[in-house]
Amino acid sequence: MRSGTRQTINSYFGSLAFDEDGKSVILALCGAAIEISALAAQTGLTTEALGDTTGAQNSDGDQQKQLDVLADEIVSRALGATALGAYFSEERDDAVIFSQKGMLSLSCDPLDGSSNIDTNLTIGTIFSLFRHSEAGIAGKQLPHGREQIAAGFFAYGPQTSLLISCGDSVVAFGLDQDGLFRQLDWQIAIPAQTAEFAINASNARHWMPPVKRYIEQCVAGIDGARKKNFNMRWAGSLVADAWRIFRRGGVFLYPEDSRSGYEHGRLRLIYEAYAIAFLVEQAGGLASDGRQMILDIAPEQLHQRTPLVFGSKDEINHLLSNYR
Ligand code: AHG
Ligand code: MN
Ligand code: MN
Repeated sequence: MRSGTRQTINSYFGSLAFDEDGKSVILALCGAAIEISALAAQTGLTTEALGDTTGAQNSDGDQQKQLDVLADEIVSRALGATALGAYFSEERDDAVIFSQKGMLSLSCDPLDGSSNIDTNLTIGTIFSLFRHSEAGIAGKQLPHGREQIAAGFFAYGPQTSLLISCGDSVVAFGLDQDGLFRQLDWQIAIPAQTAEFAINASNARHWMPPVKRYIEQCVAGIDGARKKNFNMRWAGSLVADAWRIFRRGGVFLYPEDSRSGYEHGRLRLIYEAYAIAFLVEQAGGLASDGRQMILDIAPEQLHQRTPLVFGSKDEINHLLSNYR
């Protein structure tokens, strides 16, 4: 089938029973993603040194890169034209209130994988859409993972693409040459079993015993207790590792470790882990902090970190058995 005949996201939404204001937020994000993708492709060609630090830090202490800030501005501008109540961003200290009457809030990592901006590796934008129980609370209280009505992430790699769930399975779109996001021919389900793990192995000496034991058994391969060989990947961009896991299965681990500041891992609950966990559960996988499901973790502060392990259900359950 020629790509030009694949369903666009607009026509996908046309027949989807979903919150109309939510659809307009997601379509606005699609426009922002196209802009961010085009900017990222200009790294080294524009006057803006997109991969350079701005000299400022975000609330989580990360060195902000030019593209972090530009991506956040692009997303915020796109959302301003929608019925959104509040916007929670990795790059902003506090919530941005768009409307006291808005029933929806959006959390966003405008540019995930910032350390990869000038290494030409896949980076992306992560988002969660939350529906509140009444007007006037958007932005006044932190959104809870179980209030999500949709979540997804854009990946800016060889293909600019979107993986999204509006609460009923996960669908994927690719940006076509005509500038439209068209649905990919992919029934998305994470295989329950896998022989591939993703972790930043340079932190091994800092890991807690359950993770140490699990990874040692993977690395021992066919000669060890698991009696099978494993492969390893680590992209340094959550969106890139996640996309691969949705595509062919696998497990991703960013656990807590003994380094100062990493007592709760490195990834943030509200604008990274909630979205991935929503998608993973919709695709038949599991997402946990090692003790509870990510979606059950109550939010305490906007930039709080959480340990995050997710992916192929049977393998995650095997990993979690090490925690017990
Ligand atoms: P961000 O660029 O939004 O701060 O996210 C980076 C995250 C995530 O994308 C990736 O999995 C992880 O940081 C990589 O961490 P290490 O550099 O410690 O491996
Ligand atoms: Mn990120
Ligand atoms: Mn980021």
